[in-house]
Amino acid sequence: MRSMDIIKDSWNEWSDTWYLKYRTEEAIAKIIASPASVFHPTTYAMINPDLAGKRVLVPSSGDNHAVFAFHLMGAKVTSCDIAEKQVENASIIAKKQGWDIEFLCEDTMQLSQVKSDEYDFVYTSNGVHVWINDLVSMYSNIHRVLKNSGTYLMYDIHPFMRPFGIKAKEAMTIQNSYDQTGPFGDVPTFKWRVQDIMNAMIASNLNIKHIEEMYAENGWFWVDESTDEGELLTEEEVASYTNWRINPSAAIPQWLSIKAVK
Ligand SMILES: C[S@@+](CC[C@H](N)C(=O)[O-])C[C@H]1O[C@@H](n2cnc3c(N)ncnc32)[C@H](O)[C@@H]1O
Repeated sequence: MRSMDIIKDSWNEWSDTWYLKYRTEEAIAKIIASPASVFHPTTYAMINPDLAGKRVLVPSSGDNHAVFAFHLMGAKVTSCDIAEKQVENASIIAKKQGWDIEFLCEDTMQLSQVKSDEYDFVYTSNGVHVWINDLVSMYSNIHRVLKNSGTYLMYDIHPFMRPFGIKAKEAMTIQNSYDQTGPFGDVPTFKWRVQDIMNAMIASNLNIKHIEEMYAENGWFWVDESTDEGELLTEEEVASYTNWRINPSAAIPQWLSIKAVK
């Protein structure tokens, strides 16, 4: 089977298994009550200017929390994901809420149904780059669909975390060298370096304007959500993960945000 089909099939399965928790009434009510809660505060501060009335595209939209938040902030949003189930499950929520959002089943490296020069703002959130085998194709298409002076903003795991086994409160162990970018595993993933991401943006004629390297402001970064580990921990335990003296991994930035303009 082609690696893209393996990724797509896996996400179609995960959409109806461990991803259900991102679509509960409680999860959606939290976004409605506070759209900003979807974003890391530093990334949220980089969403500027005001997006009300603006065209926003979210490729690899996954749980669609950012899509819902942008809609609630007044933007006209298009959500794209390669997995039909992810698109279908998000569109069911939007329909139930009466939210006018466009959903497309699309590969972020192609965006073939997305018109050129249409969007004021393109956003990719955590866990996008790991599934992308050709960053230049992804960024060339993000550049293509942006209007002139349109903004791209990314938020993702900082590549400095990639060589390490992420285990809360344990000494850091190396799993692979920073230079090994993959693919890794049966469902193929990539561990791109900072230079891979930035050079792909530069090669696609995006002008990088601002970079932030952030810490996980609550300890959830180290909690394995796919195993419900978080349910077993007290709030204090989770919060203690942000202290690098207790949790050595907290000494290295966990998140990376880059803002670029066409
Ligand atoms: C971890 S989610 C990232 C989005 C969001 N931050 C979240 O946590 O749900 C990864 C999403 O990327 C999608 N995906 C993987 N490869 C893709 C591709 N080439 N084009 C579009 N979507 C892709 C998957 O189907 C999945 O919904």
